[in-house]
This record gives sequence, C-alpha cells and structure tokens, in this order.
Amino acid sequence: MKNIDSFGHVRGESLFLDDIIPQQNTLFGLVFDSPKAHGILKKLDISKAEAIEGVIKIFTHKDIPGENQIGGIIPDEPLLAENEVHFLGQPIAFIVAVSESIAKEARTLIKIEIDALPVITGAKEAAAKQQFIGTPRTFNLGNTSKAFRKCDYVFEDAVFTNGQEHLYLETQGAYAIPMENGSIKITSSTQGPTQVQKGIARVLGIGMHMVEVDVIRLGGGFGGKEDQATPWATLTALATYLLEKPVKFILNRHDDLRMTGKRHPYESNFKIGLAKDLKIIAFEADFYQNAGAAADLSPAVAERTIFHATNSYFIENVRTSVYSCRTNLPPNTAFRGFGGPQGMFVIEAAIAKAAHEIGITAKEIQEINLLQENDELSYGQIMTQTEAVSSWQSTIEKFNYKKLITEVNAFNKRNNDFKKGIAVMPICFGISFTNTPMNHARALVHIYQDGTVGISTGAVEMGQGVNTKMLQVAVQTFAIEPEKVKLETTNTTRVANTSPSAASSTADLNGKALLKACSAILERLKTVAAQELKVNEEEISLLNEWVYVNSKKSSLSWKKLVAKAMLARIALSEKAHYTTPVIHFDKTKEKGHPFAYHVYGTAMITTTVDCTRGTYVFDSIKIVHDYGKSMSEGIDLGQVEGALAQGIGWMTMEEIAYDKSGLLLSNALSTYKIPDIFSIADNIEVIPLETDGNEMAIFKSKAVGEPPLMYGIGAYFAIQNAIKAYNPNYTLKFHTPMTPEKVLMSLYEK
Ligand code: MTE
Ligand code: HPA
Ligand code: MOS
Repeated sequence: MKNIDSFGHVRGESLFLDDIIPQQNTLFGLVFDSPKAHGILKKLDISKAEAIEGVIKIFTHKDIPGENQIGGIIPDEPLLAENEVHFLGQPIAFIVAVSESIAKEARTLIKIEIDALPVITGAKEAAAKQQFIGTPRTFNLGNTSKAFRKCDYVFEDAVFTNGQEHLYLETQGAYAIPMENGSIKITSSTQGPTQVQKGIARVLGIGMHMVEVDVIRLGGGFGGKEDQATPWATLTALATYLLEKPVKFILNRHDDLRMTGKRHPYESNFKIGLAKDLKIIAFEADFYQNAGAAADLSPAVAERTIFHATNSYFIENVRTSVYSCRTNLPPNTAFRGFGGPQGMFVIEAAIAKAAHEIGITAKEIQEINLLQENDELSYGQIMTQTEAVSSWQSTIEKFNYKKLITEVNAFNKRNNDFKKGIAVMPICFGISFTNTPMNHARALVHIYQDGTVGISTGAVEMGQGVNTKMLQVAVQTFAIEPEKVKLETTNTTRVANTSPSAASSTADLNGKALLKACSAILERLKTVAAQELKVNEEEISLLNEWVYVNSKKSSLSWKKLVAKAMLARIALSEKAHYTTPVIHFDKTKEKGHPFAYHVYGTAMITTTVDCTRGTYVFDSIKIVHDYGKSMSEGIDLGQVEGALAQGIGWMTMEEIAYDKSGLLLSNALSTYKIPDIFSIADNIEVIPLETDGNEMAIFKSKAVGEPPLMYGIGAYFAIQNAIKAYNPNYTLKFHTPMTPEKVLMSLYEK
C-alpha cells in the first residue's frame, strides 16, 4: 500500500508542529545557553535583557517549581544549569517574549561570567581521567585468552568512528497551551510522548494526569527526538505553566546543531585471532563511548554496541567491553542503529585488517564465519530462522560477485588515475528494545456508527510510514476501504505509558496491539452477523465491506452490520495491550534472549576513486534484504534506501568537528555535509530475500527502520580497497568518515 502521507506531503498540506495556528497572545521562547564547555557559573545578569520591551520573563533554574532534572536513565542532567556548566550549548536560561526577534535581541543582552574548568572532548581522554557513566559492561563467550594461544593469526588495531548529526528536516520544538485548573496541553515534536509528559510533570512538580502531550507527526527523528525532545518541551511547558499563556518554542537550525547531542563517537581497540582455514577463533574489543556531558540514553546505546559487536558472524570465543565516558560535549543520544553500527564497524575493521595482513580479500573471511542456525551469540541468544548465509549467498549469486570482482581487477590493471574497490557487507540486527520492560504497546479503536474507524496507538509517525502500516492492520482485519479509517494523532490521554517510537519496533509493538483490539471487535461483530443471518459464527467472514456466509455474499453490508451492532448495544470500541513474548535478559549474568528476532541482509558496494582528487563515486550498490513478508513494499524499500544513504553519509562525508574547547565547528550545512541525490549510486538495487517472515513481526513483516543503515559500512571498506589498489604503501586506517581529504592523503602516503 502507498504511504497515506504522500499526497499531503507533496502538496504541502500535511500538518507539522509549526503549522498549528497559534492562539492569540502566544509567546515565544528562546534558550540562552552556555558559551563555555566546562566551568563554574560565577555570575548571570539577566536584568538588561529582561528590561527590554516585549520580554515577558527570563526563567532560570530558580523558577523551577519541581525538580530541576531531566535525566532518564541516570538523574545527572539539570534542565537549566545551576552552579556549573558541562557543555557548550547547555541551557542556562529560557527567554520568553512576545516575538522571536525580541527574544533574540534579549539573548544578546544577557551577561555571564564563567570560571573555566578543563574541557574533555575525547572518550579515551575521559577514560584516562576515570570519567565514566555507570559501570562498564562485558559480554563473554568461551575463553578468549586461551583461544588466542591456539590462533595461527592474531591482529590488533585501534578504531575511531565519528558521531553523526541527525539533521531531521524539522528542528526540535513544542507548543504549550494552558488548560483548566493548572493543566497543560502540549504539542511536541517527539518520538516519546510519554517521556515528554513525565519530564514536564517532574519539572513542574505536578501529576502526569495534568499534562496532555499530542504529537501530529515529525519531520524526521532518527533517534534525535527519542529523549532529546524532552528539554525543549519541558521549558515550553514551564513557561506556559507559570505565565498561564500559550508558549511556542522551535529551535532554529544553529541552536539545534549546537545544543543537541548526536550519534556517539567511539574510540575502540580490537584483537582478532584466526586459524589457518580463516575461521575466526577469538575476538576481543574494548569500546570507549563518547557520551557527552550527561548519561541521556548512553548506557542503553552502549549495551547495543556489544550486542552487535560480532555482527553476522559466529565466533566461539568473544570478550567485548564497553565504557561510557563522560566528556564536555552535548549529551550524545539515540541515532538510527543505537550503538549497533559502532559495534559492527569494529568487527568489519578487524576482518579487513586480518585480510590485508594475510593477503586475501575480506570476503573470504566473512563468508566462512557467517552465523548458522543454532549458533550462540556472546549474550546467550541462540539463533533461529538465521538468514546470514542465505542473504549472503543470494547477494553473491544474484548480483554476480565473480563477474564484478573480475571487472574491478581488470579495470585496476588498466587504469592508474582511477581505481575501483568492492566490499561486501552483511548485517544482522536484533529487534526489540534491549531493555526488556520497554517492549509493550497499546492501541485504542473506535468503530463509529456509520462504519468508519478511528485508530489511536502509541506509534509516532516520523516519515517511516508507521501510520500506513497501522491503517493496513485495521483495513485488513475489518476488510474495509482505507478511506474509512483515520489515524489519530499520538496522544497521551488516548494511549498512555507508551515506549518511545524507536528500536525499529514501533510497527511490531503497536501493530500487534492494534491487531488484538481490531480482532476483539471483529469477533463481536461476527456474533451479531451470525445472529442476524441465523447461521453459525464460524461461517461468517468479511470481504470488501460485506458479510459473507460460507464464502457466499449475504444481505448484510459492513455498514449495516455496524448499525445492527449499535442497536444491539454492542461495544464498538476496544483497547488492547501487547507485550513481546519470549524475550528476557539477565544483566547480572549478561545472558538471555533479548531480541524477538533478527533482521538480516547483505550489500555489495562498488566504488571508483579518482586518484588525482581523492573523490569517489559509488558505481553500484546491490542489496538482498530480509523483509520477512513485507506488508508495505514501497515503504520498506524507502526505509532501506534512506537508511543506506544515512549509513553512507556517516561513513564517508558527515564529519562532526569540535575544537579542543568543545566548540562545534561543523555548526552549519556549509561545514557539515550530508549525502544528496548525487552522492549515492544511481545503480541501487534492493531485492527481497524470500523468507517466511517471523511470527513476532506484525503480519510477519519484519522491522526495517534501522538495520539497513549498516549496509553503509561497506562504503568505507570499498573505498579502502580502491586506495589499496593504488598505493601499496598505504597502512590500513580505521578512522571515519572517509572524506575525500583522507582518501587523498592515503593515496599518496609513503
Ligand atoms: N525514517 C524516516 N523517514 N524518518 C525517521 O525519523 N527514524 C528511524 C527509522 N526510519 C526515521 C526513519 C529510526 S532511528 C527508527 S528507530 C525507526 O525508523 C522508528 O520507526 P519504526 O520503529 O516504525 O521502524
Ligand atoms: N533501541 C532504541 N531505543 C532505545 C532502546 C533500544 O534498544 N532502548 C531504549 N531506547
Ligand atoms: Mo531509533 S535510534 O531507535 O529512534
């Protein structure tokens, strides 16, 4: 089915936060943030700023009636700084004025004095100073120290993966309106309406029942609005609550880039051991995660790094450890893949290093170590319905790797100004929130007496097409036309206590809850139909808005059936609750079965490097992806292509740069480059792996949001292989992104 939003989007009619027509007397917010990355707040003078006409009030931490705290996993993050600042961009005051331009003017008049303290910007630098968040985590399988002694080859190296800016088209923001008796209604651009509701209640010192959060849709989230929509919504709510006025606050791009966290940069070390036959016998890795100045979601992100540290491979002896390191950068946060990509890059780097040293291609190592049915991962999950080998073989055969590599080698023999490189990238990504208690959802369904349907779930539409998938669940269950179904906004008063829309699990969790609710109503309707038509319930089925008895069309239409049910005083509304079965995890043992299932696939990426300029193009990207039984092929293909582009961007061109003082240098789109339509191959082909799908996926249509991002990792190694073909003196480096500057240096390295 086509995305139900495409029509509205292309006509510019879809509603986003900024499309809400502001009420009269709406005020506008703006954050005054720390100009220094670390220091003691000596003096804050807001008097001049507050004195200008049109400024209503400037809030500081002193105005907060509840708790000045927004930390989700660990309470280590004040909403507004008190005595100390921990990153450049940290909110210190919230200016509320009659217009944005006046608020901006006021911001320039705030005077601040900070006694600077030492600034830490790197993860290993923080680790050396024992600046850790929480305790390190280690997964163990077998015995690596014993196993290394048996290895024919052992290689070690260091790896750096840079962060990544979410660059959602729609920046962060919220619009709050005062309601009766001190309650608030807020529209927020958040992936986590409940997170926002909880945050506001905590900061205002009121009950969650006094806060209604509504989400229309997001102009992209990519993880950046899982937890980090909360501070802006909370500031907006604070002003609305205290001033009893509507307040709107949408960050401009510069503020958003400076103040919000990004994908976590990681510094890592690996040690890989192989036997003569290229079996990987042992693997060790230490991951140093640059968490930024507060925990945010870092411990959860760190956990997923070691869950995915062996990617699609079975390794008998594994020891992986992750350290979350506190630095003076904005708190880094969820980003598509949630730590998984950082883990996977390291094992791919280890394989590339081993291949280079042994003098073979990485492919030869990759393919004999792929996961097989019943293999055990380092965290204890036994793999079932494993598609690592099938997706690999499918890619190699269907896209004719043999022919391609022969062509690439022949090209490289003939040409010296240009070199080609090829890389194969398998993926294996676990589906479920790694934190088991988060895997639940609810849905609320109303059938109106005219036969139309209203649906509410906890799912937030952020471009990934979840609303279309939810609509499909209802349409399919009731056998009615899509026009009869409306997806309501995501609202905490209709569906409460939701997990954020994240972990690629939104459609599975909310879809399963919705299916339950729809099925319950359907059962009641079938009873009504059976009574009405004087047949057994089992004989009733629905098709194209009509009731059938033993596959024969009856006199009863869907519309009539609903009307009859209404007269018979049957409940036409239902809510349902779904929790993922089977999953569990024991953190004391670091073993369990945390994922409902895994998503697989294999990409093959070919690049041509211009050896005079260091620039590169991707000639072709061929993917076999495991969709299960895709319920929306167009949407799922869009997710694969979008994630791939984002992955390639992370690997090749998106370069976050902070200077030593913690100042973001890549603070605009002139200095932070993301892929455009020309950066990605014309020649992208994605074909589905034919599988049975998975029972725990909605309609056996597997989660698709994050996994394909990791195909992009192949881009790094394809370019590296082209560099190797040009410069025999090149020493392998694992330092992302592989920008044209770095390529050029590598091509001419002695
Ligand atoms: N696709 C679009 N267009 N916009 C987004 O913000 N977020 C990604 C992915 N695809 C995102 C997207 C991330 S980080 C996740 S976790 C999933 O979508 C969330 O949606 P899902 O659970 O419905 O897959
Ligand atoms: N993935 C994405 N977001 C999350 C997770 C996860 O595993 N856990 C908590 N938030
Ligand atoms: Mo996605 S990083 O789980 O929002």
